Amino acid sequence: LRTDWLARVAEAADAPALEAVRLAALGKKGEISGLMKELGRMTPEERQSRGAALNQLRDEVDAALRARKLGLEDAALDARLSGEWLDVTLPGRPRPRGTIHPVSQVTEEVIAIFADMGFAVAEGPQVESDWYNFDALNIPPEHPARQEHDTFFMARAEGDNRPPHVLRTHTSPVQIRALQERGTPVRVIAPGRVYRMDMDQTHTPMFHQVEGMAIDRDISMAQLKWTLEEFCRAFFEVPSVELRFRASHFPFTEPSAEVDIRCSWEGGQLKLGEGDSWLEILGSGMMHPKVLEAAGVDPTQWQGFAFGMGIDRIAMLKYGIPDLRAFFESDLRWLRHYGFAA
Ligand code: PHE
Repeated sequence: LRTDWLARVAEAADAPALEAVRLAALGKKGEISGLMKELGRMTPEERQSRGAALNQLRDEVDAALRARKLGLEDAALDARLSGEWLDVTLPGRPRPRGTIHPVSQVTEEVIAIFADMGFAVAEGPQVESDWYNFDALNIPPEHPARQEHDTFFMARAEGDNRPPHVLRTHTSPVQIRALQERGTPVRVIAPGRVYRMDMDQTHTPMFHQVEGMAIDRDISMAQLKWTLEEFCRAFFEVPSVELRFRASHFPFTEPSAEVDIRCSWEGGQLKLGEGDSWLEILGSGMMHPKVLEAAGVDPTQWQGFAFGMGIDRIAMLKYGIPDLRAFFESDLRWLRHYGFAA
């Protein structure tokens, strides 16, 4: 009996099997327990000899069970330790890292340059009211400039005849908002998204502009010119920039000027700062008295200049990018090619 039970204990391959052996031997209905119960029906002499032997058997089997249990636990731990072994000296696996989008990078550059000249950053909503986007900027409902803006209109509820909101077509409405919020004197730039229904190599339905505005007692066109030249020198990082102010028309500035930068196209390569070509980079002018009035500013006391520039456009020029649409395709190969991602 003894060798039989000790063999069964030794053969138990895991904890559940061992527990089954324990129950079969020492459990309430186990074989050894059963034998011990029979002791009660024996004569005192029988009981003495059998009892001692049974006690010893029970203790031996019990000890073997415990030892086997510890052995199984050790083996299980060993198996886990070798299975989960980790070499902490191995180099880590590199994970792809995100980078700031080129338009955001360029926007930050623009903000930094104007911040050095004392311009604060102003903001306005991308869904804009008809009044801020047009009327306040001296573009009344019948004005032909409205057609040129290729405007996206927001839907109105049926029966609501108020002019629909629009996706702002330029950052100029922020001129009005910044004036209402900050009063005069003021110097702000307003970078942000604008929308027009247009799509080709150099147009996307959403693009970015930065508006600039400076208002004080005696702001002049000369200060506008200096500010823009200073900006272009810093932004394009070329030793000399030459700007050409070309008379133009915007309803919200008078006089108005479109500004071109001197450049050359050598074998399809654009070079800024030299050559016989001119490339338009922004619109500007002295703020129209009606615009100041719309924003609650007295035009007999205050004057200002304003300008609006395409951020994506100046980014294309600076980095020699031929197709604007690529900015918004999130193609990693493209971003890496132009050094915008690692
Ligand atoms: N808002 C004009 C545009 O989108 C640019 C501009 C801004 C012109 C400010 C003059 C003054 O084309």
